[in-house]
Amino acid sequence: MNEPQLRQSMGQRVRGSIRRMSEVPRKFDRQQLLDLAPVATAPIRYHVFVCTGKSCSAVDSVLVRDAFEQQLKERGMLFGREVKGKNPQGTVVLTECASVGFCAIGAAVMIYPDGVWYAQVSANDVSEIIEEHILNGRVVERLALLQISGS
Ligand code: FES
Repeated sequence: MNEPQLRQSMGQRVRGSIRRMSEVPRKFDRQQLLDLAPVATAPIRYHVFVCTGKSCSAVDSVLVRDAFEQQLKERGMLFGREVKGKNPQGTVVLTECASVGFCAIGAAVMIYPDGVWYAQVSANDVSEIIEEHILNGRVVERLALLQISGS
């Protein structure tokens, strides 16, 4: 098989797999999906990501994550199940993530929908980020390194 034939064959395979995927019937209708994922109907306003990749973990990003979890719980803002001390009507989702490229300047914390990436965050900074950014909509400039705009 020459190169053009190979490319054509691969293209057909890719197109074929896309076609097959689109033919897979959905298992649940929309209401069933909403029932299975309460976060979809919660009043979520912010999504906080804390990097717990290798480099950020080396500068205690797990403590940063724990501080967010504890303080957001105390304020009743952390979305999640009541049995876990969280609030099903919480407005903040907290998620650990893997490396985002701030490895040399962690711990990295990203807050969406604002698209603000904070660098060198420590557990001691968490209350300020919650108070200023999440509650009052003011970016903590001394820690903010990047803002990704949606437009
Ligand atoms: S390990 Fe956190 S940004 Fe790379």
